[in-house]
Amino acid sequence: LIHLLSIEGLPRAVLTHILDTASTFLAVNDREVKKVPLLRGKSVFNLFFENSTRTRTTFEIAAKRLSADVINLDIAKSSASKGESLLDTISNLSAMHADMFVVRHSESGAPYLIAQHCAPHVHVVNAGDGRHAHPTQGLLDMYTIRHYKKDFTRLRVAIVGDIVHSRVARSDIHALTTLGVPEIRAVGPKTLVPGNLSEMGVQVHHDMAEGIRDADVIIMLRLQNERMSGAMLPSAGEYFKSYGLTEEKLALAAPDCIVMHPGPINRGVEIDSAVADGRHSVILPQVTFGIAVRMAVMSIIAGNEA
Ligand code: CP
Repeated sequence: LIHLLSIEGLPRAVLTHILDTASTFLAVNDREVKKVPLLRGKSVFNLFFENSTRTRTTFEIAAKRLSADVINLDIAKSSASKGESLLDTISNLSAMHADMFVVRHSESGAPYLIAQHCAPHVHVVNAGDGRHAHPTQGLLDMYTIRHYKKDFTRLRVAIVGDIVHSRVARSDIHALTTLGVPEIRAVGPKTLVPGNLSEMGVQVHHDMAEGIRDADVIIMLRLQNERMSGAMLPSAGEYFKSYGLTEEKLALAAPDCIVMHPGPINRGVEIDSAVADGRHSVILPQVTFGIAVRMAVMSIIAGNEA
């Protein structure tokens, strides 16, 4: 693995190796993350062409815990605003001896373009491209599920909400399938669930109660308004009534069900505060696990040369 651009096509052994490596970076209580010298002398450039709170910050923490030098390019104040192209920006940062680019971009495929353009010793990590993929979110979601549920091969996992625009849903579905989850459900209105999911072995439900009944894991997704045209936008109130996760609806799931969300959450739209902050929620542990998972990804790919 030279770059991490997508989870699609990665074998189970690779996914498991990443999760196992992540667990070595967490102290016994699974909260503290160790500092190690694995990327000492390497320069990691965070290039976030789209906004982020969790991914950008945890990549920065992860790179620092690996002892790398971290450069956060402020895209809004960069010369991209003067018309410099993406690839010219990359060429110039490469001339500063970048070893790794962590890239978020609104265009699907942008990290692939960068990976093709870079020198062979430079690594690229996709931190979310358009609606295509968000592989480290998929991996931290798998880490979280394994932490709480142990065995992927006995699980019912429901992914609820705006699946059609969600790079997280796509990465989660590939990872869950590869790790052997027998029942993956996509739950949402017809306009927000892609038609081809059943070809991937995913059950499609448009009724929320049916979709989450007896689920062991529920992954809630935000309405990605920034990727919708006017006609697609549901009203927040109507959406919450049909697909918002409340304590009442959660009672239909397995009694020890965990509730996940990649964030940012929109309280009262896709999830009620009582659930987001309730005893089934593992939304904040997901964020913490993201540091160790990103350390694992960066240390594994930096250890491999083209
Ligand atoms: N989950 C996630 O990608 O969150 P951010 O957009 O805040 O990075």
